[in-house]
Amino acid sequence: MTNHHGLTGAHSQAVQRPAAALSVDSINFSYPNGHEVFRAFSLHAKPGEFIVLLGPSGCGKTTLLNLLSGFQKPASGTITINGAPVRPEMPELGYVFQSPQLFPWLSVLENVRFGLRMQNRLNAKEQTEKALHYLALVGLDQAADKLPYQLSGGMQQRVSLARALALEPALLLMDEPFAALDAITRNNLNEETLRLWSELGQTVVFITHDIDEAIFLADRVVVLEIAPGGIHSELAIDISRPRTNLDTRKLPRFVEYRTALMEEISDVVHANLSVL
Ligand SMILES: Nc1ncnc2c1ncn2[C@@H]1O[C@H](COP(=O)(O)OP(=O)(O)OP(=O)(O)O)[C@@H](O)[C@H]1O
Ligand SMILES: [Mg+2]
Repeated sequence: MTNHHGLTGAHSQAVQRPAAALSVDSINFSYPNGHEVFRAFSLHAKPGEFIVLLGPSGCGKTTLLNLLSGFQKPASGTITINGAPVRPEMPELGYVFQSPQLFPWLSVLENVRFGLRMQNRLNAKEQTEKALHYLALVGLDQAADKLPYQLSGGMQQRVSLARALALEPALLLMDEPFAALDAITRNNLNEETLRLWSELGQTVVFITHDIDEAIFLADRVVVLEIAPGGIHSELAIDISRPRTNLDTRKLPRFVEYRTALMEEISDVVHANLSVL
């Protein structure tokens, strides 16, 4: 398909990176003001695994993603991606923030192309092709020339997903990316996220405080303790894929998982009422 940029966006070749193995081993982390967030915390993800971290507000979810992406450093312990200590500039990493964080003065295409320009590995035409390819994957190649303010919130978050995917990360970190959206849009983006993940095969660490979203997406749901803490419990989600909103969410097993996770979260909150 040739688009109005004269480029074959949807058919440009995606360079597949192998999915990343993530190892977090016994990390300790406090903020400079002394607020302790992690004590002897460990987490391991297999290549291609979709892990969802579930926890109440303030338990340290964003802090953990900042540690996983190398933006913050643990005081002790190690975080490795495919065996190498994590660094923010690693090409394996992709990050989708809670709010889209698009440059308002750049077109949709230029927002997606921005990271590729910074990487400076492809020429301008190849960057544009790749950006259009990922915009097509999220269904927004026709919006390439629009400015962010001309898009709905859900469309903006899809642009931000395309921007992360365009870097072809082996480990995709997602921090409550759909929390600000209405339920219908969020359900649709959940389905879209799974479709893209099944095509691209990255390892994903996805953060949410929404139990249904966690079950729908995950291979494994990890429930976090309130800081300073570790893992409260884990639940393997044994529901076949592909998953669809209409069929998956009404499965008796889905409802059982929801009840189990509601109890786990309630345990976490009640065990820590004194710190809330
Ligand atoms: N820069 C900082 N300095 C000191 N404390 C901080 C800082 N950033 C976060 N915290 C504290 O660390 C804890 C974890 O914060 P974090 O943002 O990781 O929580 P979260 O689980 O992502 O919460 P939410 O669900 O509300 O996004 C909170 O108690 C927060 O107040
Ligand atoms: Mg957060």
